[in-house]
Amino acid sequence: MALLDIIVAPDPRLKKHAVPVERVDASTAKLMADMLETMYEAPGVGLAAPQVGVLKRIIVVDTVREGGAPQPRMMANPEILWASEETKPHEEGCLSLPDEYEMVTRPDRIKVRYLDEKNETRTIEADGLLAVVIQHEMDHLKGVLFVDHISGLKRSIILRRLTKQKKLSKSARRHALESA
Ligand code: NI
Repeated sequence: MALLDIIVAPDPRLKKHAVPVERVDASTAKLMADMLETMYEAPGVGLAAPQVGVLKRIIVVDTVREGGAPQPRMMANPEILWASEETKPHEEGCLSLPDEYEMVTRPDRIKVRYLDEKNETRTIEADGLLAVVIQHEMDHLKGVLFVDHISGLKRSIILRRLTKQKKLSKSARRHALESA
């Protein structure tokens, strides 16, 4: 297994659409395992392939709380079959938008069909945090970030802050190289 680099916003690669996986073969399963390891290491509760620069419809999720037994879900071509009319606000964050959190309102319960790491079709019903994370990760597959669900003003403040941070860390790296 290997750790992958997570792309940080703003970045045009996070705005692209991912394409479906034809079948989950050994290399897809390897990518899923690497994504899962990267997500646990971050640490995070979900990760989508476009966040590691792979434009495929793949997400990994584990919403088990600290101390609980891991419950990894690796999903290719996830598809929402049904969503509840009832919605709920939930505070969201994203490994591609470090240290930024905002309330996002989404359907409270969903039914999702996907291909697992063995290329088997599965259907699950999710609610609470799991439903939030699956919907958040599926957004990444069409180039949508959680900040696209909030007001334009809040979004631009967050993206400006992230841009500034990127410049700072780039110049810090440069200085470290120059003084090495
Ligand atoms: Ni995210």
